[in-house]
Amino acid sequence: MKGVVLRDVHVVDGGRVFPADVLVRGDRIERVAEEGIGSVSNAEDHDGKGRHLLPGAIDDQVHFREPGLTHKEDIAHGSAAAAAGGITSYMEMPNTDPQTLTQELLAAKYALGAASSVVNYSFYMGVANDNMDEVLKTDPRTVCGLKAFLGSSTGNMLVDDPVTLERLFHEAHMRIVIHAEDEGTIRANMQRAVERWGEDIPLAEHPRIRSAEACFRSSSNAVALAKEHGTRLHVLHISTARELDLFDPGPLDGKRITAEACVHHLWFTEKDYAKKGALIKWNPAVKSSEDRDAIRRAVNEGRIDVIATDHAPHTLEEKAQKYAKCPSGGPLVQHALVAMLEMMHDGVLTLEMVVEKMCHAPARLFAVKERGYVREGFKADLVLVDLDAPWTVTKENLLYKCGWSPFEGQRFRARVLNTWVNGRMVYADGKVDRSVRGERLLFT
Ligand code: DOR
Repeated sequence: MKGVVLRDVHVVDGGRVFPADVLVRGDRIERVAEEGIGSVSNAEDHDGKGRHLLPGAIDDQVHFREPGLTHKEDIAHGSAAAAAGGITSYMEMPNTDPQTLTQELLAAKYALGAASSVVNYSFYMGVANDNMDEVLKTDPRTVCGLKAFLGSSTGNMLVDDPVTLERLFHEAHMRIVIHAEDEGTIRANMQRAVERWGEDIPLAEHPRIRSAEACFRSSSNAVALAKEHGTRLHVLHISTARELDLFDPGPLDGKRITAEACVHHLWFTEKDYAKKGALIKWNPAVKSSEDRDAIRRAVNEGRIDVIATDHAPHTLEEKAQKYAKCPSGGPLVQHALVAMLEMMHDGVLTLEMVVEKMCHAPARLFAVKERGYVREGFKADLVLVDLDAPWTVTKENLLYKCGWSPFEGQRFRARVLNTWVNGRMVYADGKVDRSVRGERLLFT
């Protein structure tokens, strides 16, 4: 089998940065040679020029909108943008149309992934108030997790029946990931906003409507339920300082209750609504700079275990509607890694920590088989980055189907040069090789 030697790279892996040559053969990493590798028969060289080689990032929260909402995004576009952004595996959400609420619909989604995803994929099984028997049939070796919306968002998949919730937390045989925002609190806040502003609610009210209180109520309830039943619970997109005490600091290993932060909650604050408006309207909402700074600290303390995107595109026409109709969510997979590397340049976190939270930790948390590390015998999902090759996000260099990004005009110091998925180079010279197909993730 022909191989490729990634020569003269700085590998970032396992909390270390070290010079090495890396031999990839077929779909696997054959050698990580710290002492250098000399000449290798039947292998071509790829000169890394001393740049940094990272494990491909694993994004545990994306919305690629297929089937049914493909005017916003689809698997082909979303996975290509992920490849360009250094994300080599993703876990995709069930709020499509139809929603992924039966095993048959889940299997159909996997068929879509196999047909058009250029990076590796997994799809969550969706939980509703009335599909528990289907949920419990989910195979934990081939499906990443169960997704429950404990707060309504795009697609209205709210699980609000207390009996269903008890049963879910008691009987779940695999990790539950949740969207936590208390519906009653949001409704009351919304009613007050309508009384005050009528139809013209300013966007900057979003963090007061989708309030910190709504987040805390819901996530604290879920954590209490998980403790009561011993459930493995992963709370998605933590957006407030107040919720952070619900999670233990320290290493991920051994934790049953874990937390994720998203790039937008680590980057933006409510001051950005004035300039970005609906482009940074997410659920949960981007909140205060104190919240953002607390989440940044929590990443370093280990209260936040994983950094992901919640990539959730909508069209600009949809985003142009008035507050109540304007959908929440935005595209992120193409810029998540470089945004985190920008924060590294700003001293928010180390390079090793970026790799821990975006590559290693999602692999360990979900027990992804043979991925997430630059390790001999593992699948060759790799990203070569130049930490100092500034570039600017423009409409022209976006790969999203929706054609916009909240980062337009942003200059990033780091750049993704190449991405490999299962040993195949899928991204080079600013172009995605759309003939590459990713694999279905497996879980040990
Ligand atoms: O802002 C969001 N948009 N948050 C979610 O949880 C769902 C997502 C979407 O699907 O649009």
